[in-house]
Parts: sequence; C-alpha cells; structure tokens
Amino acid sequence: MNGQVTAPGKIILFGEHAVVYGKPAIAIPVSGMRASAWSESSKEGLTINALDIGQKFKLKDSNNQFSVLAQSVLAKTNFNEPNLTINLSSKLPQGSGMGSSAATATAVCRALSKHLGVDLEANEISELVFDAEKIVHGTPSGIDNTVIAYEMPVYFIKGKKPKTFEPGREFFLIIGDTGIEASTKKTVSKVRKNWQKEPGLMDGYFDEIERITENGKKAIENGDSKMVGEMMDENHDLLNSIGVSHEELDKLIDIAKDAGALGAKLTGGGGGGNMVALAETKSEQKKIYKAITEAGYRAYQTSFGEE
Ligand code: PMV
Repeated sequence: MNGQVTAPGKIILFGEHAVVYGKPAIAIPVSGMRASAWSESSKEGLTINALDIGQKFKLKDSNNQFSVLAQSVLAKTNFNEPNLTINLSSKLPQGSGMGSSAATATAVCRALSKHLGVDLEANEISELVFDAEKIVHGTPSGIDNTVIAYEMPVYFIKGKKPKTFEPGREFFLIIGDTGIEASTKKTVSKVRKNWQKEPGLMDGYFDEIERITENGKKAIENGDSKMVGEMMDENHDLLNSIGVSHEELDKLIDIAKDAGALGAKLTGGGGGGNMVALAETKSEQKKIYKAITEAGYRAYQTSFGEE
C-alpha cells in the first residue's frame, strides 16, 4: 500500500451562466469533500480501480480520462508502465457541479506521480487533468482543474488563463442540495433561448453579474464577509431573472437566510441541484446546516481561506 492522496471538490461562487457569455466567474475549493486515491503493487501493469462506479480501467484503454491521464503522466515523466493498481474513491456526488470528474482525475495523477517518486507542481497537474478532460469531455472550461489542483479560489474568464487569488480570511459555507437532479446542459440552453429572444435585457443582466463577480472577488480578498453575502444575494436575484432558479432552491435559500446566513445563491447550472450559503462564524454555519438538514435536505459544511 502506498499512502493516500486526495483532491478537493469545487463550487462556483459567482458568475455561473454569465461566464458562457464572456463574463468572469469565481470558483472555490470544497476542501471537506474530497476524492481519494491509494495505490498497491500489481502483477499486470497499471489498473485504475474506480471503486464507486465498480469499474476498472487499464492503461491502454483510450476512452476514459483516467487512462488518458496516466498515459500523459508516464509520457511526461519518461517512465514505463508500472505494475500498480490505483484505487479511487470519491465523496463528491457525480454530476452535481462539485467537480467530481476533475477531482478524481487529480487524485489519480497525484497517486501515480507519488508512486513514481516525481514531484509535479500544481500547474503541471492542472494542465495534465485539463488535457485528459478535453479528450473525454469535449470542451471543459478549465476552471475545475485549476481550482482543484491549486486548492485556491480561482477567477476565470473563458479562453483566458485562470488566475488564483488569496482570500483575506476564512469563509464558512453551507451547501444545500435540493435533491432535484438538474441538467446544466438544459439550463444553459434555456438561457441561450432567453438571450436570443431578448438580447438587450439578458446582456444587461450579464453586465450586472459581472459587476457582482468583480465586487465579490474584492470582498473575498478583503475578508469582507458581509459584502460577499450581499453579492451572493444579488447574484441569485439575477440568476432568477435569467430563468435558472427553482422553487426548491428559493426555499433552501429562505431557510438559510432565516437561520442567519449573510447571503445565499444557487450554484452551478441551477434548475435544481445545489445552493450555497455564507455564515459569519463556524457556530453560525452549524446553525444554518442544522436548519437545512432538519427541513429534510442534504447539506454539507465547508470553508475556504486561511484558518
Ligand atoms: O454546474 P457546474 O459547476 O458544472 O457549472 C456550470 C456553470 C455554467 O456557467 C452554468 C455552465 C458553464 O459551462 O460554465
């Protein structure tokens, strides 16, 4: 057995949907929910054993991101195929906008490079994961692999190099799950239709979201949690206006706000899925988490920034 390595999940804090139209977005790591990988020696080359989905991938398979990634790691480091099984398990729900795909790939990359005795830098891991995701998922934006490899907040504009930045304090979050499976593809195409119908109005909303994202970034850097909360509320109102909220999301947001949240919004594609709320302190965070779970929803507590 070779020690465990991990990678965090992520959520989008500001700018989802507007980012499709060239506006900035901010994503943050979810350090409490991670993908883990650990390796053991084998007799027959490299196998990636994805325990949660009960599937095994060999190095030569070319239609999955793990094999493609392992091939690139070996090519980059000039090693031959090792006799190794990399076991993989993840606490991140799949297809929930929490970065499960990039987090599991990052964990595999870390496990393999650790076995080889090679120290890969965060930017190298991020690029390797991005390239593997491109082959398998078509056109990933690059935000997930960056925020996950660096485990830092990321400011992102489509087509530009993502930039990491430092929060001015620790921010306490609660993620609430509506339990409604939502398709990002569907909400993205709904927004596209609304934009085609009323481009002037929608562009106005996107401009507003851009202002919020910029202010949100400054507030995170300044450690101004009240301002971050305000910006989250405003961002949610605009996401409602562009047509991607859901009554269950609004209900969760009300529960969080009633329990003392500084701000709350849907996160990711919307139309169901998750909302994220901000708490001033760890004990406030617990209170909001309790209110959401007592109302019958699944919730997670996480924080980002220095402790
Ligand atoms: O649900 P996630 O985290 O995959 O985010 C979707 C974000 C959108 O802006 C709605 C779509 C996109 O491709 O950026």
